[in-house]
Amino acid sequence: MIELEPRQFHCPGYYIRAASKRFEAEGASRLRHRVFVTEQGIFDTHDRDDIDLIATHLVALSTYAHEADQVVGTVRIHEEAPGLWWGSRLAVASDFRAVSRLGTELIRLAVRTANARGCTRFLAHVQMQNVALFERLHWQSLEEVTFHGAPHMKMQADLAAYPPCDDPVAGWYHRAAACAPQGGARV
Ligand SMILES: CC(C)(COP(=O)(O)OP(=O)(O)OC[C@H]1O[C@@H](n2cnc3c(N)ncnc32)[C@H](O)[C@@H]1OP(=O)(O)O)[C@@H](O)C(=O)NCCC(=O)NCCS
Repeated sequence: MIELEPRQFHCPGYYIRAASKRFEAEGASRLRHRVFVTEQGIFDTHDRDDIDLIATHLVALSTYAHEADQVVGTVRIHEEAPGLWWGSRLAVASDFRAVSRLGTELIRLAVRTANARGCTRFLAHVQMQNVALFERLHWQSLEEVTFHGAPHMKMQADLAAYPPCDDPVAGWYHRAAACAPQGGARV
C-alpha cells in the first residue's frame, strides 16, 4: 500500500455549513486566532468581541473518509439592524487558500443565509487585497474606510446573486473536483 505524505493528500470535498457542534465552534475560534492574531497581527491577543455572542458562525470542514474532519475556513454573520446584515472574520487556513474556493463558498453561505432571514442589505469591511475577489462575486465597492487601523473597502453584496438558504446547519457538500478553474465568477 502506498502511503501518502500529508501534503500530497487532496481532500475530496468539504462541508460548508453553520457551526452547530462544539468542535466546529472551537475550530473556528482557533482558526480566527491563527489568521487574525498570529498571521496578520490585526489583534494583539485575541479577536473575540461582543458580535460573537449574537453572530451565526459558519465553517468549512475538510473531510476524512466522508466524515467532517477539521475546520479549515470560517466567517460570521450578524444582523445589526432590521434587514441590515454584516459579514466579518472571513478566514481560510493558509494551506487551503486559492485551491478549493472555500472563501467563495463561505461568502455564498453567508449571504444566502442572511437572505433567507430577511436581509435587505448585506455589507462587509473587506481588506483591500481581497476587493477583487469580492467584486468577482457580485459585490460593489461603496467607500474606503479605516477599520482596525488599516484601510478597508466597505462593500455590499448583490442579493439577487445569492438565493436564500433556509437550512444553513445542513449547508452543502462542496466537491473539490468542482474546483478546477472555470474562468468566471460562480456564486
Ligand atoms: C481571503 C480568503 C478568505 C480567500 O479564501 P480562498 O479560499 O483562498 O478564496 P477562493 O479560493 O474562494 O478564491 C476564489 C478565487 O479568487 C482568487 N483569490 C483569492 N484571494 C484573492 C485575493 N486576495 N485577491 C484576488 N483574488 C483572490 C483565488 O485565486 C480564486 O481564483 P480562481 O477562481 O481563479 O481559482 C483567504 O485568502 C484568507 O483567509 N486570507 C487571510 C484572511 C483574510 O484576508 N480575511 C479577510 C477577508 S476580507
